[in-house]
Order: sequence, then structure tokens, then C-alpha cells
Amino acid sequence: MSNFKATFLYLIFFIFVLLTRKLALVNGNAVPALYVFGDSTVDSGNNNYLQTRAKANFLPFGIDFINPATGRFTNGRTIADCIADMLGLPFAPPYLGLSEFERSKVITGINYASAACGILPLSGSEAGTCLSMDNQTEYFMSTIEKDLPSIISNSEEVILHLSKSIFLVSIGVNDYTTNYLKNFNGTWTGFTPEAFGEFLLNEFFIRMQASMTVRRPCCPADGKATSLCEPNMAVCEDRKKYMFFDGGHTTESANGILAQECFSGTICKPNIIELVKAP
Ligand SMILES: *[C@@H]1O[C@H](CO)[C@@H](O)[C@H](O)[C@H]1NC(C)=O
Ligand SMILES: *[C@@H]1O[C@H](CO)[C@@H](O)[C@H](O)[C@H]1NC(C)=O
Repeated sequence: MSNFKATFLYLIFFIFVLLTRKLALVNGNAVPALYVFGDSTVDSGNNNYLQTRAKANFLPFGIDFINPATGRFTNGRTIADCIADMLGLPFAPPYLGLSEFERSKVITGINYASAACGILPLSGSEAGTCLSMDNQTEYFMSTIEKDLPSIISNSEEVILHLSKSIFLVSIGVNDYTTNYLKNFNGTWTGFTPEAFGEFLLNEFFIRMQASMTVRRPCCPADGKATSLCEPNMAVCEDRKKYMFFDGGHTTESANGILAQECFSGTICKPNIIELVKAP
């Protein structure tokens, strides 16, 4: 039963991956970057830099890769590498393997994935240190707030870059294998496999939202997705950097991007060009 749940969760993420890839290709536009989050299924070497037993920087790992034993948990390319190839992008380098200087130069995507870790902070901790989903999103925030602006000076262009990038997330297996199924000190007693699956998905979506590009609203309100700005409330200074003006409504810069996508892209079906052309 638990194995069934794990497979199910895994499938959800895999389908998510496939859908985003399909959209990118259907769109016909070049994809500027691939950002990778997750566990050993997509780690490209982050764990080489961490105190952990979960490492793959020795042969036979990578025996069929260009440089063997890079920290990939397979004999050759990972799912993330194969997708990078399909998109015509370089393999996303491991975040922890890049110097501060290198981080401020990479524009084609970064890999934050870390073997043994999962959605819940405690998952994987028995093996040592790893980057939990919270750690990964924190590093990604640093990429958005510090590194990308040093390459792309116009903040609207940063948003556009992110909106056209592919985000690959392959995570959740270790929340079962190194956490739920171990049941540590009885933390999960009383959680049926179904209840744990629900709990995990909820924790996943909370973190996905927290990791968004610019998800924080300009008008701070109370942080709820439904909250509006209050009369004469102080607002953020650089409104072009924000996607959301209040808890639920987009800024002008986001509206411009969405309108453009609706005009000629795929978010409106048919899009406006197709609609105008139609007899
Ligand atoms: C991961 O996050 C935790 C909690 O914020 C922090 O204590 C830890 O140092 C982070 N680990 C890494 C490797 O960044
Ligand atoms: C089990 O251990 C975790 C981590 O140390 C702790 O957060 C949790 O409260 C503990 N649960 C119980 C039931 O003692």
C-alpha cells in the first residue's frame, strides 16, 4: 500500500515534468533556462559538497557520462540532463559547485537537487546533511534576487526569463523511504498511507508557492492569497519586480506578459491572433 502511494506521488511529479516539457515545445519558443529541484533522481552533484553518506562521486557512478563520477546517481545522464538535451540547453550545474562569481554568470539554469532529501525537512537527515525543499527554494530565491539581476539588468526581463524557463521538480520518494516508512519516534503513527499522501502533497504545494519567482505581493496585506491592499497601504518601491500587487492580483508588468502570451502564445485558446484570423 505504502509502495503504491510512493509510486503514485512519483508519477504525479513525473507527469508534471512531461506536461511542462510538452508546453515548452508546443509553444515553439526557445526555452532560456532549466531550473531543477528534487532528490537523487536529478541531483547533478550538490551532495558532493555536503557531509552525507548519500554520495555518488565515485565509480561506477557516471561510468557512461562524459566525466565519470560527477555525483549523478546513475551510470550516465539523469532525467534532468536528458530534458536539457531535448531543450538544447547545457546540463544545469549543481548550485553548490558554483562559486559566487560563477553563480552570477549562469543564465541557462541551475540544479538545486540533493540526494536523500525530500519535501519535509526531516526526510533524509539520517544520512547526514542534504538540501531539503526549503533549502533548495531558499537558494533559488538568492538566484532570483541576487544573481539573475546581475546578468539581466531590467527587472521585467528577469520575470520574462523566469516565465519562459522550465522548472523540473522530482521529489517525494525520500519522504516515504527515509521518513514515513521509518516512522522514527512514532511521528506518523495514526497517519494512514492516504492521509500521509495528502499531507505530503499539501506540504509540497505550500513550498512550491513559497518558491515562486516573485510570489510575495507588493502590497504586504496579511500574506493570504485572497487578501486585498488596504486603503492607502504602503506598497513596494520597485513594482516592476513583482508579479503580484496584492494577495491575489497581478501587477502591471505581469499583466503585460500575460497579455502578450494571450495574444500570441498558448495561455488563451484560441489566442487572439488565431481568433482574428478565423473566418
Ligand atoms: C537548510 O536549512 C536549514 C534550516 O533553515 C539550515 O539550518 C541549514 O543550514 C540549511 N542547510 C544548507 C546546507 O544550506
Ligand atoms: C519526533 O522527532 C521529531 C524530530 O526530532 C520531532 O520534531 C517530533 O516532535 C517527535 N515526535 C514525537 C511524537 O515525539
